[in-house]
Amino acid sequence: MEYIVYSKSPEETESLGQRIALSFKMLPFMGGFIGLSGNLGSGKTTFARGVLRGLGWNKEVISPTYLIARYYHDPDVLHVDGYRIGDPFFEFLNLDIERLIDDGYLIIWEWGDPLKDYLLETLWVNLEYQGKGRKITVSSRGYLWQEAVKILQPT
Ligand SMILES: Nc1ncnc2c1ncn2[C@@H]1O[C@H](COP(=O)(O)OP(=O)(O)OP(=O)(O)O)[C@@H](O)[C@H]1O
Ligand SMILES: [Mg+2]
Repeated sequence: MEYIVYSKSPEETESLGQRIALSFKMLPFMGGFIGLSGNLGSGKTTFARGVLRGLGWNKEVISPTYLIARYYHDPDVLHVDGYRIGDPFFEFLNLDIERLIDDGYLIIWEWGDPLKDYLLETLWVNLEYQGKGRKITVSSRGYLWQEAVKILQPT
């Protein structure tokens, strides 16, 4: 299932993240994985901020660039910036990822593409520069996220 939308501003990108968080909350599972891709500065962290806002996080959301990973509690979210993570590291992390998802964590992973083959139920968000805005492609893999994307579609 794929949903494509054009975002004119950071606010619109954030608000799409919020909407995805709300549709995610309506689904009958707790944890999940959202992978973000797109060039430097395309809006991945902006989108992640929207997701956290949609889940009820009212405090600051800053890029985990230097920390690599940042944990949030209530809502339980792990926000990762994979830019500087080498491939071998992923196999090691993967064990934890699945456990965290089972424990109800929503994982938001910037530069998440190398994880595509490890996880079955995922949502992927790709941001591309287009004119002054961004073209955002949201695509679900697996059955569960498909429902979340369906909720996003205008009827
Ligand atoms: N439509 C838009 N959507 C998102 N960001 C936008 C948009 N238009 C302009 N911007 C600006 O682009 C920048 C996006 O920064 P952000 O940190 O979210 O990108 P990023 O993809 O996480 O970058 P990095 O690759 O360094 O992690 C911000 O300065 C934001 O204000
Ligand atoms: Mg970022």
